Amino acid sequence: MGNVHVLEHPLLQHKLAILRDKNTGVKEFREVVGEISALMCYEATRDLPTREVMIETPIAMAKCKVLAGKKLAIVPILRAGLGMVDTIIDLIPSAKVGHIGLYRNPRTHEPVKYYCKMPPDISERHVIIVDPMLATGGSASDAITFIKEYGCHSITLMDIIAAPEGIAKVQKDHPDVDIFVAAVDEKLNENAYIVPGLGDAGDRIFGTK
Ligand code: PRP
Ligand code: URA
Repeated sequence: MGNVHVLEHPLLQHKLAILRDKNTGVKEFREVVGEISALMCYEATRDLPTREVMIETPIAMAKCKVLAGKKLAIVPILRAGLGMVDTIIDLIPSAKVGHIGLYRNPRTHEPVKYYCKMPPDISERHVIIVDPMLATGGSASDAITFIKEYGCHSITLMDIIAAPEGIAKVQKDHPDVDIFVAAVDEKLNENAYIVPGLGDAGDRIFGTK
């Protein structure tokens, strides 16, 4: 079973309170999504392998560590996941970016796929899927399935807020995937929105409501 990491760092929790506030405007919302994504990425990459190298400083030789092992790919689930990408690739400039377009059918809440474009060497990379919201888990589970179809089996899921239902679905469908979240909320409402959540993440990032 994949591990669920709930990141309770005070900086993250403070910024999450700003996102939840219905009075937070588009500009600040977008900025804080970026800041949270960078902080979460720091935790989600904590166990990346490193190797030792010798570096000559102006004073002496120093034994240093650099990243080793698989290169990374960041895969946002469109649209809202796009808001998490820029600050992550600032931290990991060598990461490639794949895109999966999914929207939820408003009646059934089932994900509908409308776009998919992956880097050609995705199967050799460790993939971090990013999306602010893990509600029913349908979108995340389908996204993981699509990425596995490319031959990729090293996958992490990173969401800002999750519902227990979404975590349970991803754990059941993809027990090999670790999940990083900043909060696990109480439940879903009748429209499959997370309670208390933050509303519609895509609309709040892009100002579409
Ligand atoms: C939201 C969110 C996730 C999905 C989560 O996207 O960004 O992708 O819903 O819900 P689920 O866990 O029940 O599948 P939405 O479908 O609203 O599309 P958008 O990002 O284009 O607004
Ligand atoms: N998608 C969102 O943007 N918010 C939710 O609460 C659930 C799905």
